[in-house]
Amino acid sequence: MTKHNLIIIGGGPGGYVAAIRAAQLGLDVACIELDKALGGTCLRVGCIPSKALLESSEQFSEIKGDLSSHGIVVDGVHLDLGAMLKNKDRVVRALTGGIDSLFKKNKITRYLGHGRITAPGKVTVSGSEGETELTADKIIIATGSVPATLPGIELDGDRIGTSTEALAYGEVPGHLVVIGAGAIGLEMATVWRRLGASVTILEYLDRILPGMDSAIATEALKIFKKQGLNFQLGCKVTGVKTDGKGCTVDIDGADSIHCDRVLVAVGRKPNTAELGLESVGIETDKRGFVPVDEHLATSAEGIYAVGDVIGGAMLAHKAEEEGVACVEGIVNGYGHVNYNTIPAIVYTAPEIASVGQTENELTEAGIAYRKGEFPFIANGRARAIGHTDGRVKILADKKTDRILGAHIIGPHAGDLITEAAVAMEFGASSEDLARCCHAHPTLAEAVKEASLAVDGRALHM
Ligand code: NAI
Repeated sequence: MTKHNLIIIGGGPGGYVAAIRAAQLGLDVACIELDKALGGTCLRVGCIPSKALLESSEQFSEIKGDLSSHGIVVDGVHLDLGAMLKNKDRVVRALTGGIDSLFKKNKITRYLGHGRITAPGKVTVSGSEGETELTADKIIIATGSVPATLPGIELDGDRIGTSTEALAYGEVPGHLVVIGAGAIGLEMATVWRRLGASVTILEYLDRILPGMDSAIATEALKIFKKQGLNFQLGCKVTGVKTDGKGCTVDIDGADSIHCDRVLVAVGRKPNTAELGLESVGIETDKRGFVPVDEHLATSAEGIYAVGDVIGGAMLAHKAEEEGVACVEGIVNGYGHVNYNTIPAIVYTAPEIASVGQTENELTEAGIAYRKGEFPFIANGRARAIGHTDGRVKILADKKTDRILGAHIIGPHAGDLITEAAVAMEFGASSEDLARCCHAHPTLAEAVKEASLAVDGRALHM
């Protein structure tokens, strides 16, 4: 039986960041991860590989598209999908290898295998070389999530798959059907559309991107349609099966669709399989999440949980914040996550980014607000780079002017949203943001102008 101060089960963004922070604070830390590569879904089959493919496919479609307005004429562009996928794999290898180095630097003990809690303070690691018994004062569960599916759909790990398969199709599908118009569905649809696939997105709701600002989602839908994505909204998929070399998707009250591949992107569910929660009396909630209190402590003494497995926004950076807060709480007695200032980003072109409350949420909560908006078409830098779609929207409390939310669709929205998140973290008013000098010419000037617009005094509109 090997003893550590802290055992972390799961080496994704929640787990590995918690491990590093705990080591910085002087704990003897063990991190158990099933996969050879550290980094979890995010680094191996999520955020990072998808961003590599989004970047490669965007470059391909820009170069293949019309660059004549820039005075550039390009002939003979063709796709080498194998090389594009290899580049993505290289990016993933470099980053997962980087976490190995961080573990070594911080003297974190890494166990390769499946971790299962067997009793308070006790965890068994099952790996290829048998079982190892570990013991610790504290345990953090950071086992993440796995793709959800729908009744009537049996994933075959090939033609009917999840984002994992969609990150590695060996050829561009002739016709790809994507079920679900959330972040994963839209990002992967964008990649394969740019590479030449015909793409149909089937969405149960009558809108895309549930949870995001509805006006911005409507604007995004228009832009995506122009990019050649086909949408069927308000559409209930009742089954998917493979037939010969393709698949058939059955839809309630509409014609079935025949296609080459199906990507199921209808959300993710917590990963608690074989975790031994029953051995310490932890009961999951109705949706399978591990309930925690404000200190990220579960109902079992000394056992904590962070990241996707506890629910809330299933985002890598939310898991990281929780990992740090949990460890600081354990060691220092205090740690905190401000859930109001966690940004969410969809990395399509244009990007869509959001932090804080939406107009719908403010209206439902009966909070009076003022709104300022500024379109990128009136921003000099956006004009110069030729990406003028979209706008910035700032929402501020009507009485106090405190910023309550920011929503952006447009070039580099994912980077721009950080300014609003930082401002909100410091309790800024829209006037505070508007009075900050923004360099010219930058896309960030659109954030300043939207803040000015809250008070009806945008300068360039
Ligand atoms: P999601 O929950 O964001 O979207 C799923 C979509 O599927 C929803 O629009 C839902 O209405 C739709 N849907 C559900 N049942 C359906 C049915 N029977 N037929 C048709 N449509 C149906 O889930 P997604 O995109 O799979 O992502 C999973 C998680 O990972 C989310 O929490 C997401 O925020 C996170 N993620 C975040 C990314 C980012 O921040 N860029 C990228 C990828 C994932």
